Amino acid sequence: MTAKPRDPNRVIIFDTTLRDGEQSPGCSMTQPEKLRVARALAELGVDVIEAGFPAASRGDWEAVREIARTVRGPVIAGLARCNREDIDKAWSAVCEAARPRLHVFLATSAIHREHKLNMAKEQIIHTAVEGVKYARSLCDDVEFSPEDASRTELEFLREVVEAAIDAGATTINVPDTVGYTVPEEFHEVFDYLLKNVRGAERATFSVHCHNDLGMAVANSLAAVRAGARQVECTINGIGERAGNASLEELVMAIKTREALLGVHTGIDTRRLFPTSRLLSSITGMAIPRNKAVVGENAFAHESGIHQHGMLKHHSTYEIMRPEDVGLTRSHLVLGKHSGRAALRDRIKELGFELSDAELARVFEDFKALADKKKELFDGDLEALVLKAEFAESGPWHLESLHAVSDSAGAAMARVGLRHGDGRLLSQESGGDGPVDAAFKAVEAATGVEVTLRKFEVHSVSMGEDAQGEAVVTVEHNGRSYRGSSVTTDIVESGVRAFLEVVNRIESTRASAERIEKRNAEAADTATTP
Ligand code: KIV
Ligand code: ZN
Repeated sequence: MTAKPRDPNRVIIFDTTLRDGEQSPGCSMTQPEKLRVARALAELGVDVIEAGFPAASRGDWEAVREIARTVRGPVIAGLARCNREDIDKAWSAVCEAARPRLHVFLATSAIHREHKLNMAKEQIIHTAVEGVKYARSLCDDVEFSPEDASRTELEFLREVVEAAIDAGATTINVPDTVGYTVPEEFHEVFDYLLKNVRGAERATFSVHCHNDLGMAVANSLAAVRAGARQVECTINGIGERAGNASLEELVMAIKTREALLGVHTGIDTRRLFPTSRLLSSITGMAIPRNKAVVGENAFAHESGIHQHGMLKHHSTYEIMRPEDVGLTRSHLVLGKHSGRAALRDRIKELGFELSDAELARVFEDFKALADKKKELFDGDLEALVLKAEFAESGPWHLESLHAVSDSAGAAMARVGLRHGDGRLLSQESGGDGPVDAAFKAVEAATGVEVTLRKFEVHSVSMGEDAQGEAVVTVEHNGRSYRGSSVTTDIVESGVRAFLEVVNRIESTRASAERIEKRNAEAADTATTP
């Protein structure tokens, strides 16, 4: 089954947050986090979720398979290079989806043919055709992408696309892989392909833009105006280098200018803001204040003239209503006297569905926090919910923390850590400030040494007693790990975030050991007569 819509003006939203987005530095996610994002994307109403690149790693394969098995609604796509091994891996990961898709790609530009693939034009066509045919032998829904299409000779691009459609591709995705094109040029490319590719009517044409020159959304819309009916994008525009086209900007541009563009999407736009916040909390990648549609300032009016206009009529300075993107005007929520039902209602409005057990946990944390803070805001509630969902997993738990520093720069910290096997370790260390001292104490206690790459703190809500979210990014054995935590004390937030990183490293090590053991056992069985 293909995702080709019967309505010719309906634009398919293909979300690649979990593949192209997750690929970008600082945005890697654990499997439970990917599942949470996939569920949120389904609630948002995206048509296709590209869940990952299964051949990239065992972890990627497992995450894609879990999403394919459990997330219902959207088509679930897995990416593969044009070779049987990759395609088999992608198929084994997505085959249990209600609506699976295989997405195969091969670079076509002269630069990639010469410097990356060392392949002649004929070989490119042959490999693309073989890949698409093989994918079609497994799955009815096959997308083909000529990577670096925007820098490919137009006539050759037409030939490759034609061959891919003849081989059975149901979607043709035309990527601006390096963010090089401009709207007028990309409009011409799509116009040319749609008019000149033999069999173009048998496939849906798709656009995939990167944001290197800040034109990913504009280029995607130009392609839509020329007839593309699938747009590939990511939440908050995360992705390789400067990112991919931002889903929320594209969707709101299409909605706001529907009369001009003549197309629409199936997205529930009121889910845009909660989904954007969810991704930002999970990845630790902050949303710039002035980011279109979902930035903190997107609906803030500062100048007197603007405020005056807004008081007379909101349409004077607002082209979209904040509630249309899921932003409520009043942020002040609950206090210590609020009950469980009020908490459940507000959490639901923020876009989270909790089980009774999860709600009970969040309610307990909520009461504890309400004792420390006078007023609780949406940001506080989101942080509590995410903490309940992604509670520290791993062997180490923080039992106690004592940190002091003086104005001369001396600092000391003592941490008490409980291991899952029952051991309680206490460690003291000096450092360059209380946070650094506490991190060193944690390293000494756990034996896990890391290189600190980034430590950021920002407030998740308003007021003097606002909670601080700490995000820690480190490197360990050539891999990057990230942890985050929210409390009212920023040193404690930092230490909890650091401990999350240490736990992730320990979990990765334990699962690598498990896989190695399994492989060794399998090799033993294979050589046993
Ligand atoms: O940017 C790109 O070319 C891609 C392809 C794999 C579609 O991400
Ligand atoms: Zn891409």
